[in-house]
Order: sequence, then structure tokens, then C-alpha cells
Amino acid sequence: MATSSLTRIAAGGGGMLGCGRTRRCESDLRSGRNLSMRIRAVDDGAAVEPDLSVRVNGLEMPNPFVIGSGPPGTNYTVMKRAFDEGWGAVIAKTVSLDAAKVVNVTPRYARLRTGSNGSAKGQIIGWENIELISDRPLETMLNEFKQLKKEYPDRILIASIMEEYDKAAWQELIERVEETGVDALEINFSCPHGMPERKMGAAVGQDCALLEEVCGWINEKATVPVWAKMTPNITDISQPARIALKSGCEGVAAINTIMSVMGIDLNTLRPEPCVEGYSTPGGYSAKAVHPIALGKVMSIAQMMKSEFSEGDYSLSGIGGVETGGDAAEFILLGSNTVQVCTGVMMHGYGLVKKLCSELKDFMRKHNFSSIEDFRGASLPYFTTHTDLVKRQQEAIKERKAVKKGLQSDRDWTGDGFVKETESMVSN
Ligand SMILES: Cc1cc2nc3c(=O)[nH]c(=O)nc-3n(C[C@H](O)[C@H](O)[C@H](O)COP(=O)(O)O)c2cc1C
Repeated sequence: MATSSLTRIAAGGGGMLGCGRTRRCESDLRSGRNLSMRIRAVDDGAAVEPDLSVRVNGLEMPNPFVIGSGPPGTNYTVMKRAFDEGWGAVIAKTVSLDAAKVVNVTPRYARLRTGSNGSAKGQIIGWENIELISDRPLETMLNEFKQLKKEYPDRILIASIMEEYDKAAWQELIERVEETGVDALEINFSCPHGMPERKMGAAVGQDCALLEEVCGWINEKATVPVWAKMTPNITDISQPARIALKSGCEGVAAINTIMSVMGIDLNTLRPEPCVEGYSTPGGYSAKAVHPIALGKVMSIAQMMKSEFSEGDYSLSGIGGVETGGDAAEFILLGSNTVQVCTGVMMHGYGLVKKLCSELKDFMRKHNFSSIEDFRGASLPYFTTHTDLVKRQQEAIKERKAVKKGLQSDRDWTGDGFVKETESMVSN
């Protein structure tokens, strides 16, 4: 089903649940309006109840909140819980053909808190993990996908998959996973630890030639929508994202975790998380990565807006989401859906209710009645530094040189340094 053409021909089934199986569902939402702002006037002045539902690559979701691949999608019990609590979709923990090769260690998490010396009272802002993909037998996971789709036929279940550099293995995995009835596939091209040693995960996402080849194998076989999950551990994330879309993927998801070392224990001098006295760099997530994730999503969204505006392509924003406002930011940059992983590990599955209610509050405040009303609305406001200088010079001229902040580096003083810094902060 893959095509490297930039213009997609839509296949039928628009509006029907589960039409993702046709792979190219009609989308009336995007033509000509992709990533652009549309503010709908409210006829009678009365506020309209915001509608959170989204339609992404033909998949209908009650809201844009998706369980990101990881512990919150490890087995039947927790995925069922996610559907019951109202998550828009669930992406299961990444599976591969041979789980016996996946051996986890404990401890595998380490956390960063605010406050002095990371006091236990401080709020958790950063989370490192050295967890691998699913260590449960593939057959077990497949049976659970089947069971979930039987019980929740109208809800969106997405399998996350990863394999070694082997066409036959990728295609066998896709065939077996699709047989369960999952609605879409997310390809883990982004796990930063453990798997790259086997030429998996980030090892593929960081190498555009390899990525193009593997995406070709995947899209030749897949009959459901495919999202490529990108690694932020690369200079320009828009390059592999472009390759994935050109190679037939319907969507891009970003970001996976950021390569990190959480810290060194100053008593033992050993790195954390510490396993038998040793550690290995892991993946960083939670609130602290949110600004980095926004930056990466912004860069992918700009590339998609200029090169993939024709066709039903999607973007899933991930990283440090704990509030409806965090999610609104991803959507304002052009994301169709927003994934949450560590936030669920910290606050539980009920978090989706708070996310929905806060996102609705934001929409009411701005009179947005649907997600499409504001998706991508902030993207046009990014420009180059050179352009900022030009705009500021013109604005100053226009305002007859009304001063904001320092005009030149020579104006900094020692006494007023903090105030001078404040005068140039935007929030
Ligand atoms: C403990 C843990 C395990 C994870 N396992 C996977 C995985 O199996 N597959 C995957 O694609 N991403 C995995 N991730 C990455 C998350 O899906 C997500 O991309 C990342 O953590 C950033 O989002 P967050 O800040 O909401 O957690 C994992 C993250 C954590 C914290």
C-alpha cells in the first residue's frame, strides 16, 4: 500500500469507525486548511460546548488524548482501564517477534525533582528510564490486542512495533499484529537505549538511508495507517520525518525520550539508575522535556506544512504532557493528537478527565468549537532571528522608539542586572 507520491488518493470509508483498515481514508478536514487557523464565529453569541473528537488518518477518536507507548500500555488490564477512563486511543508497549531477547533490569527508573538537592518533597519534573520494549511473549500480547478489539470495537488500539534490520522479520511482525484487528501501527524508530545495540529503534531513526529502506518494507506490507515515531536525539528531526512520510507513512509521532544521564550519587560516586554499581544512559521524559518536544514538533510541523499539506498526513505530539494547556500547545503547533506516557505513570489513568476538562476550558476561552479550529494556529508565528530583528526595528520606528529592554549589550549594568534581564523576558 505504500506510495512515495506526495499527493494521496483518498479511499472511501470517511466518517465510519474503523475505516483506517482501508489505509487511505477520505478526510474532509484537511484539504486546503491543513495546519491553518480557523476561528468559527458563534452565531447567537452563546458559547458552544467544545467538541474534542478528532478524525486522524480515518480513525475516529472521542478526544485527542492517546496513551503513549510504555508502561501504561503493557497488558490487557491496563489498556482496558485506559479505554474505560476515556482515553481517545491507546498505543500498546512496543512489541517485537522474539521477546526472549528482551531482558530488563531493576531499578530502571530515576527521577529529577525541583527543590534543593532533589528533596523528596520537590515536584517531579524529569524521569529517566532504561526500560526496554515489551518483554512479554508476542503471542500473549497479540491475544490481548484481539480481546481488546473484541470488547472495544469502536475504540482505537494502535500497536507499537520494532524489529531488527531484516525485511522478513518486519513483514512477519506486521502480518501477525494486523491479524489481531489493531487500527494502526506506530513504528518505534526511536528507543534510545538497549535496542540500538541490535540495530533497532533510534539506530534506524538516526540514519535516513536505513530509515527509508525499513519504511519501504513496512509500507509495502501494512494495510492500516502507519505512524513513524521519531527520536529527538538527532540534529534536525524534520529530515527523518520527511523520509518517513515520503516512504509511505501516514503520520509522524514525536518525541520519544531524550538520551540522558540522570545523575551521579555523590556518596557512592556511581551513576543512576544504579544496577549492581553500574548504569547506562537512558531516555528522559516528563515535564522537563516539554519545551524540547515543542521545538521538535514545531520543526516537523513546519516541514509538513510546506511539503505535505496535500493529503491526509498526521502529527502526534508527545513529551511532558500533564495539563490540558500542555496539550493545547502541541495542537497549536499542528498536532492532531497528543500522547501521554510518564504523566499517566505519575497521575494514573484518570488524568484524561482533567486533560479533557482543561482543554475544553481553553477552547471556551477562545471560542473554539473544535480541535481543527485552532490546530496549527501558532505555527505562523515562528520566524528567523534575523526577521525578529527586522520586525523589532520596524516596530520601534513606528512607536517612535518606545523602549522595551536594552537596546544594546553595552547598556547592561551590574546594579540593575536582574531587572534588566526581567525586562527582556516574554512571560
Ligand atoms: C518507562 C518508559 C517506557 C517507555 N517505553 C516505550 C516503548 O516501549 N516504546 C516507545 O515507543 N516509547 C516508549 N517510551 C517513550 C514514551 O512513549 C514517550 O515517547 C516519552 O516518554 C515522552 O513522553 P512523556 O513525557 O509523556 O513520557 C517509554 C517511556 C517511559 C517513561
